[in-house]
Amino acid sequence: MAEGVPRIALADGNAMPQLGFGTWQIADADCPRLVGEAIAAGYRSIDTAEGYGNEAGIGQAISQSGVPRAELFVTSKLRNAAHTRDMALQSFDETMTRLGLTELDLFLIHWPVPAEDKYVEAWRALIELKGEGRIRSIGVSNFDPVHIDRLIKETGVTPVVNQVELHPRYQQRDRRGYHKRRGIALAGWSPLGPGTGNTAWWWTHGRATAPPLLADDTIAAIAAKHGKSAAQVIIRWHLDEGLILNPKSAEPARIKENFDVFDFRLDAEDRYRIEALDSPTGKIGAEPAEWNLMF
Ligand SMILES: NC(=O)c1ccc[n+]([C@@H]2O[C@H](COP(=O)([O-])OP(=O)(O)OC[C@H]3O[C@@H](n4cnc5c(N)ncnc54)[C@H](OP(=O)(O)O)[C@@H]3O)[C@@H](O)[C@H]2O)c1
Repeated sequence: MAEGVPRIALADGNAMPQLGFGTWQIADADCPRLVGEAIAAGYRSIDTAEGYGNEAGIGQAISQSGVPRAELFVTSKLRNAAHTRDMALQSFDETMTRLGLTELDLFLIHWPVPAEDKYVEAWRALIELKGEGRIRSIGVSNFDPVHIDRLIKETGVTPVVNQVELHPRYQQRDRRGYHKRRGIALAGWSPLGPGTGNTAWWWTHGRATAPPLLADDTIAAIAAKHGKSAAQVIIRWHLDEGLILNPKSAEPARIKENFDVFDFRLDAEDRYRIEALDSPTGKIGAEPAEWNLMF
């Protein structure tokens, strides 16, 4: 029997589903249908961002779903150009209006934008919003340990989640201990790794790309062994590693496929072989310390 979606305990006492639905590059107009498909397939966690331009469509999908609000976990992210206190508070209000929600489950600072050096001010705004009961949990995304250390030093408040690029070609093993010690849950973005339609976006932003992961021979062999697809093996790997992930698909059949991962486990040999796919050139996206794109 399927075990269902485990929940990851967050350091503030809340918990979130380990497997959610990613929505980057899903158009606003397609969200009522596709997020609706995801909710119907069983996903209860939805990951969006102001910068994805699709919060209104997601709000529509939520209100049409008939699923009680308390059963859903909604994450959004503060855009890079809104790190001052006033902008952050205004941006958050706009997010909530678009989503049609009164309380958000998780709000993240999308990128630290070090050149602007305002992420501590943005963090204080998130602390304020949490204090007012408008956000249940607050965290960050694409923050290096140096950025997180500074947040903690200057505010005394530790993010409960850091959402970073993480997949079998870029496993971030050197950062796992840091996050564990700080009590910060790691969520992996672009969990299916390089070579997908979504990761092609990084080509246009000057990043090199490692070989496609979904077509990797090792993943294919493990998939054949379990009678599962390559995507399901990769998703299972994240789950077995204790990581949060939100794979995205705009194809209803793949939305279901990516959720059908609770009837098998990887064995020690599978995990050993996938661990060997980690590569110094496996990173797809930008280095947080150098990425200052304003949106
Ligand atoms: N915090 C950040 O800076 C950040 C950055 C990137 C992403 N994210 C979040 O993380 C989520 C996931 O990352 P991502 O969207 O970059 O990448 P991803 O979920 O790893 O991969 C999505 C891509 O894989 C394809 N795909 C999905 N399922 C598949 C399957 N079963 N078989 C074959 N291909 C499949 C999709 O194509 P189709 O749509 O055509 O199926 C799409 O091109 C995002 O949607 C977003 O919510 C956050």
